[in-house]
Amino acid sequence: MLHLDTQHAQPFLAGGALDALQPRLKDAHTQVLQGTGAGSEFLGWRDLLLDPNDALLEDIEATAAEIRQKADVLVCIGIGGSYLGAKAVIDALTPYLQTPPTPAAETETPSADRTPEVLFAGHHMSGAYVRELLQYLEGKSVYLNVISKSGTTLEPALSFRFLRQWLEATFDDADDRIIITTDPTSGALNELRKAHPYKKYEIPRNVGGRFSVLTPVGLLPIAVAGVDIRSLFYGAVEQCKALEPAAENPALAYAGIRYLLHEQDYAVDTLAVFEPRLNSIGGWWQQLFGESEGKEGKGLFPASVQYSTDLHSLGQYVQDGQRFLLETFLLVADDGGDLRVPDSDENLDGLNYLSGKTMQEINRKAYEGTRKAHVEGGVPVMTVTLDAVAAAPLGAALYFFEHAVAVSGYLLEVNPFNQPGVEAYKKEMFSLLGKPS
Ligand code: PA5
Repeated sequence: MLHLDTQHAQPFLAGGALDALQPRLKDAHTQVLQGTGAGSEFLGWRDLLLDPNDALLEDIEATAAEIRQKADVLVCIGIGGSYLGAKAVIDALTPYLQTPPTPAAETETPSADRTPEVLFAGHHMSGAYVRELLQYLEGKSVYLNVISKSGTTLEPALSFRFLRQWLEATFDDADDRIIITTDPTSGALNELRKAHPYKKYEIPRNVGGRFSVLTPVGLLPIAVAGVDIRSLFYGAVEQCKALEPAAENPALAYAGIRYLLHEQDYAVDTLAVFEPRLNSIGGWWQQLFGESEGKEGKGLFPASVQYSTDLHSLGQYVQDGQRFLLETFLLVADDGGDLRVPDSDENLDGLNYLSGKTMQEINRKAYEGTRKAHVEGGVPVMTVTLDAVAAAPLGAALYFFEHAVAVSGYLLEVNPFNQPGVEAYKKEMFSLLGKPS
């Protein structure tokens, strides 16, 4: 389902360095498997794959089916790990251009085959966005899924207040249209639920936000968008099992090479995709690696780029700017696009040399050419290839990166599961806002 190619990064490593790192890599891997490393109380993202809860998947599918039947729009309110995974998977696995369903109000017996629009809110504090969103929702059948593990994060809490008040003023059954996804007992959302019987999904305490895409945090919005969550989930389960042995383990190779380059003063890893539907994976990957590695003055800065688009902007820097970059390419072997370039009698655009080729073949050459150029320009490159843009390989990729980042954290000797740095801005902001202590 997933293949890692490291041959264009290995020449950048000091001779024998990867072999010499093997004992430390195995040790870091064992800490992940046996839960003996820092932050091991947050390894629930593995537990939920090792012991799948099919009843929960069924429950999520049933809730999603109801929302698909009754809603025109599902607004998911959350920030960071409480929205990036869902957005990444939905953008990857749903059509680029989707006609909104016939409004539920105009359909006598709406079927569960309808796919409501899934919108996101609460991941910034733009009042203009909230105002436009409320205007956009007028006249539509709306459901809200508010997702916050702590239940105290300001950005989603504020958006939820606006949207909840609008929903309550608009629908008699507002409480039935709100689903909360939060901690089992604590936080403001559980307080609210004492007064309102909202449907609730729990975020396991031992799963941190950026590792929560395969909990109800990600699975409910993803299911509402029409994605087969069982294939996604079990793709991750399969990958979790495949990565148990330390030998020939691509997650260890990926973590090890990144670590060695970090030791050689490389500072930035860019996740590059050649298929726009994978763009949002970059946002999820950035959070996963940024929050897990970036502490105590260590870690590669994770940036995401979208090619060919960014080859015509950031590509100049990647090729020719300061030499502190490595690149992770995320590709799909089969993008499902068999569109062939048509021939032209006049050939006025000079493109007949491409006649008959598929766009996929041409895009592949763009990747190969870019990789060659960047490697020659001094950029170590690793490539992760998924078999196809489908739920199971994507689930495998999610787990692959989660495992790799956990190993990476232990190599760097940091706790990969905390994010103390996220608190600093909140402290300053709350002080300026006069939040009561
Ligand atoms: O990775 C994390 O834990 C964080 O980035 C959180 O996902 C983010 O801060 C949102 O937190 P919460 O779900 O508590 O609102």
